[in-house]
Amino acid sequence: MKQDNVAASAQAQPGGAAASRPGTGELDIAVIVPTFNELDNVEAIVERLDRVLAGLAHEIIFVDDNSPDGTADKVRALVAKYPQVRCVQRIGRRGLSIAVVEGFMATSAPVAAVIDGDLQHDETRLPEMLETLRREGADIVVGSRYMEGGGFGDWSQNRLRMSKLATALSLRLTGVTLSDPMSGFFMVRMEAFRARVGDVTGVGYKILLDILSARGAQLSLAEVPYEFATRQAGESKLDNKVMLDFFELLIARTLGRYVPTKFIMFSMVGALGVVVHMAILSGLFGTGLTGFAVAQATATVVAMTVNFFVNNFFPYFDRRLTGWALLPGWLSFCAASAVGALANVGLAVFLFDNVGLPWVLAALAGIVVGAIWNYAITALYTWKDPS
Ligand code: GDD
Ligand code: MN
Repeated sequence: MKQDNVAASAQAQPGGAAASRPGTGELDIAVIVPTFNELDNVEAIVERLDRVLAGLAHEIIFVDDNSPDGTADKVRALVAKYPQVRCVQRIGRRGLSIAVVEGFMATSAPVAAVIDGDLQHDETRLPEMLETLRREGADIVVGSRYMEGGGFGDWSQNRLRMSKLATALSLRLTGVTLSDPMSGFFMVRMEAFRARVGDVTGVGYKILLDILSARGAQLSLAEVPYEFATRQAGESKLDNKVMLDFFELLIARTLGRYVPTKFIMFSMVGALGVVVHMAILSGLFGTGLTGFAVAQATATVVAMTVNFFVNNFFPYFDRRLTGWALLPGWLSFCAASAVGALANVGLAVFLFDNVGLPWVLAALAGIVVGAIWNYAITALYTWKDPS
């Protein structure tokens, strides 16, 4: 009976498919379209999706991060002609992965697909993907550019190289086996998604990798090839921030399972500070340019300052300080570091002198406590969480 209704809706008018099961409201699929400034693309994508999904009861959910170009208004205007369209407009928030997660959470369809709103993904693959999902009982069907029959369109050598590197890195670190884990075009059974959404980080661009590497029951995967198309209107939002987010996701999926991810990033920057410190110390004292006290003091101030600016970019890009706010930020960072250093030395000396720990262990304990202190205090005062 289900099938009859689907067949009957095949010749439906725009939007008619969503009403293919009168009175039941039951859907075959939801298509999530994340958008940021895609004003000139949304009408075309809806028109194409409406055509290709005509035989299926579906809804199209845009998740728009309050685009300044008015994408959300445009989407709502499309509802008159395409009643299967919805718009989740997020205020004061940005992020592709987390937008997709919210789109998933907004549907009651048993299956949902994600497709970019800029016409670069091949929507004509969707019926085949759904058929594969049903036939193979797969939890996730991925549109792959790396498979035979897939491709990268007009990507530059440089971006291609980056993509391959990132793919290799993520396969190695997460243990996922798939030809294109970085794909932004895929379909997932909502039950399987909801079972692991609690462990999805939502950080950055790579929502598929995020889902695949989240804790949960084994997922059964399938892939379908597609060719990445050239963007016609608007521009890509892929920038340095996206790269940093990618590293954050990788850290979260490795060491971050045991220690807070931001703390790991903060400690990496701290280790960089030690390198800077030693370089300056050897440049000043090692060459006989200054005495030890002056060299050590200079190295300390420079290393702290470098650390402050690097931390302001990674891991605190989201809360980064600019303009005059840098000054109190830098001061509070230095003050926290100074107290952290005192705690570090105090504890290490106590463990060495009074407890009798070997010097390496005493020093390590001091460093760990100092780092935790610095991290905790600067997270509270230097880079306050706005929420
Ligand atoms: N809601 C929301 N919030 N949407 C966003 C955001 C955001 O912060 N950033 C980007 N988008 C939307 C864009 O409007 C577009 O519809 C889609 O997400 C993809 O963004 P692009 O900036 O065009 O990404 P891309 O073409 O460089 O990269 C795509 O292909 C890669 C390779 O498959 C994305 O699909 C990546 O996820 C994918 O890895
Ligand atoms: Mn794109």
